[in-house]
Amino acid sequence: MKALVTLALVAPLAACTPRGPALPNAEGFSPLPPAPASSDSLAGNPDLAAYGQSLFFTTGLSFDQRRSCASCHRPDRAFSGAAAIDTRGFGPRDVPPLVGVARRTSWMWSGEVDSLEQACLHGFGDEDVLGGSLPSTLRFVAQSAALAEQHRSLFGNPPKADGRDEMRRTLDELGRALAAYLRQLEGGPSRFDEAAADQSRSILAADARRGFELFHGRAACNRCHGGPNFSDGKVRDQGLPDLPEMAFGLDPDDPLAKLEAGQRETNPGLVRTPSLRDVARTAPYMHDGRFADLREVLRFYSESVGNTVEARARGVTLKAVPMSEREIADLEAFLRSLDSAPLPGQLRRPVR
Ligand code: HEC
Ligand code: HEC
Repeated sequence: MKALVTLALVAPLAACTPRGPALPNAEGFSPLPPAPASSDSLAGNPDLAAYGQSLFFTTGLSFDQRRSCASCHRPDRAFSGAAAIDTRGFGPRDVPPLVGVARRTSWMWSGEVDSLEQACLHGFGDEDVLGGSLPSTLRFVAQSAALAEQHRSLFGNPPKADGRDEMRRTLDELGRALAAYLRQLEGGPSRFDEAAADQSRSILAADARRGFELFHGRAACNRCHGGPNFSDGKVRDQGLPDLPEMAFGLDPDDPLAKLEAGQRETNPGLVRTPSLRDVARTAPYMHDGRFADLREVLRFYSESVGNTVEARARGVTLKAVPMSEREIADLEAFLRSLDSAPLPGQLRRPVR
């Protein structure tokens, strides 16, 4: 009898026990608002995104028919790359993730590209990316019966591989289709978002919670990696040593010559602050992929940021925030809680 009474008393108590304090200061970081709506006149037409998905996964765009967008932007890595590659003579460039790419406010590591559509074309006519020439890539689309038909039924005109204006128009249309596909790559809520919404202790382990405290507390990472994207989208100089030489002098006729930056000429250290969502899936790190894992990045923030010769020469004011190994581990645990929930399988492979 006594046991029963105790049980009866304990059970309702347990049900009322608060599930732990709220995740303090998570407002502003979560939830992730929907990506800005597309202004494309065909937005909402599922055929546009499906065409983009076909283009994304075809190896036909590359000069040797062996490489697709997905070879570098790998679906199993939040559409980022496993290794940095050379592009346009810029030196090694890390392949950024494309999950969440529609939320950026500027594109490419330089932050110089102001539309997702334009960013999608970065590989066209770039020897280091898709290889070959712009006309040869466009010829593949024009000569592929299936792609050309999709193209014509969407845009009312066939894809063209000759004539300057027609090539430009075809390129714009391909950019629109690719962007429409990428706009669908919105990752689901991360463990961090779940904890912020549910305020439940059990969702986020103690180390990740301490890491979040440090992130917006003493380490002040949120000064730049703030907001729901964990980036303010601004370009800035961290004084990373030995940035590779930037190559200039693209053919001014190159329709993508805009990728070049006057900005870089005056300060080659300027890099867009990357989002930290999905960051655990996107090694290697930094614009040139110089760090193999998150520990190396965090040690850089703890020990050397702002202390390099380059940082001093370029007047970088960012200071290292010394952190213990445990604090570094806490920050890493927090960053790992930012992995988004997996995308539906049909978005991660070629259509059909
Ligand atoms: C050889 C590897 C490679 C291939 C193939 C490739 N990319 Fe990329 N992609 C990169 C690299 C490297 C960057 C970053 C370059 C930079 O910022 O200078 C990038 C950047 C991007 C960005 C900008 C992301 C951001 O956060 O700003 C988009 C969008 C993109 N690629 C889409 C595509 C599409 C679409 C294709 C296929 C038509 C493609 N990429 C093919 C390596 C590749
Ligand atoms: C002054 C602005 C600023 C502050 C403060 C800052 N970051 Fe960064 N962070 C950047 C920029 C800019 C880059 C890109 C640098 C590059 O690629 O050369 C970056 C890159 C990173 C990367 C690599 C991401 C990737 O995809 O390659 C991680 C991880 C990161 N920061 C975490 C942190 C953490 C954790 C803190 C706090 C200890 C922090 N950052 C503080 C601006 C900042």
